Amino acid sequence: MPKHFLTIPDIPKDEVLQVILRAKEMKDNKVRTDLLAGRTLLLIFEKASTRTRVSFEVGVRQLGGDPVFIAARDSQLGRSEPLKDTARVLSRYADGLIVRTFGQEKLETLVEYGDIPVVNALTDEYHPCQIMADVLTMYERTPDLASLKVAWVGDGNNMAHSFINGSAAFGYELALACPEGYEPDAAILDAAVNRGAKVTLTRDPAVAVSGAHYVNTDVWASMGQEEEQKKREAAFAGYEVNDALMAKGASDVKFMHCLPAHRGEEVSEAVFESPASIVWDQAENRLHAQKAILEWIYK
Ligand code: CP
Ligand code: NVA
Repeated sequence: MPKHFLTIPDIPKDEVLQVILRAKEMKDNKVRTDLLAGRTLLLIFEKASTRTRVSFEVGVRQLGGDPVFIAARDSQLGRSEPLKDTARVLSRYADGLIVRTFGQEKLETLVEYGDIPVVNALTDEYHPCQIMADVLTMYERTPDLASLKVAWVGDGNNMAHSFINGSAAFGYELALACPEGYEPDAAILDAAVNRGAKVTLTRDPAVAVSGAHYVNTDVWASMGQEEEQKKREAAFAGYEVNDALMAKGASDVKFMHCLPAHRGEEVSEAVFESPASIVWDQAENRLHAQKAILEWIYK
């Protein structure tokens, strides 16, 4: 049975920290292996990407494999060939699918009809590769992850859901501040709490950030929600991460963002460019975290 990585809980709880530690080792030792020698991994993207695409293409090569990129709109998927047919065809050519798409159920269709590993490179519901990189970024500064208070300010979106799952996996406390109507999905939240996630939800960004060691935010309109931009700007007024909000955090509070960022919306220019901002380490850590995830799948 192939291993898949569609959400954080796909990695058993007793293995997930090992993947982070391995990512750190790969980073520190600039690890190159031939683990994927002779293997081709297909990247199928239905949404735009800079970091995810490039870090996966580079990471697959650093593990000795061959990445092949397919923009979904240029393939027959863009002309409505069913995903279940695509899954069966691509399984005959390749050794893995790294997929950025809309609904999570599309990945589940690829798993059901294909017979090769599937990796979630972002869906509307989750961005698990990003959270693994983000946990690595926090771990490098504060290895005792269970001692941390992490704040999430803004939309209860795919990144928020992945931070919620991360709380169950890694033990940090997560305090979310979301406007009414933009809370995380209740079923995802309940399932994570049942797995041990320590999550609080408030409307007040100051409450969420109070004493936090890491403050996270993300765009107010995710990919696929562009037409809601104006409505969301109104709904998220007061949710900008700025100096006044950061001042409520712990004395060495850090700012995190998965990128790309909209300065003057979810984060001020001053915070984004401040010494407290660790966004470039997060971006770099995509490469190392994903290499460790691929090793977990293929080793
Ligand atoms: N953070 C992230 O996934 O970036 P890209 O959209 O550029 O891949
Ligand atoms: N929430 C954002 C994350 C981008 C990396 C989106 O889905 O567009």
